[in-house]
Amino acid sequence: MRIAIGSDHAGFEQKQMLAEYIANELGHEVIDLGPDTDDRCDYPDFGEKVGRCVAAGDADRGVCVCGTGIGIAVAADKVAGVRASSITTPEFAELFRLHNDGNVIGLSGRFVEPEVNREIVKVFLATEFEGGRHADRVAKIMALD
Ligand code: RB5
Repeated sequence: MRIAIGSDHAGFEQKQMLAEYIANELGHEVIDLGPDTDDRCDYPDFGEKVGRCVAAGDADRGVCVCGTGIGIAVAADKVAGVRASSITTPEFAELFRLHNDGNVIGLSGRFVEPEVNREIVKVFLATEFEGGRHADRVAKIMALD
């Protein structure tokens, strides 16, 4: 798959680590939408970039990192076609895929350990949407766009 990734300054270090992990360990193509340094920047700008990349079909899924993972996910979710959420455990990553067909996750670079975020990303990219009774519910979410 093609995976869009982005962060703010607070998520930059884990963004760099996760980009390498996704490409080298999980074998996906990574589209790094920045930033290129840990200089202070605004998370909505990069949440938007990742969201637009996924919504346009240029990436299959998106991974965003900021301090909490919340703000950047909220920003990405504003883009029509995106279902984004802050995710802090592998279990929630699995349920976000199974039940919500989530296509963008927001990770915390400050409060969640790198090994946990790696596991979250692994599960997020490996889990398929369950469909069935969840499909109508997701369609209702998308009707809100
Ligand atoms: C930046 O200090 C911080 O507010 C940001 O990374 C994020 O946590 C916002 O949700």
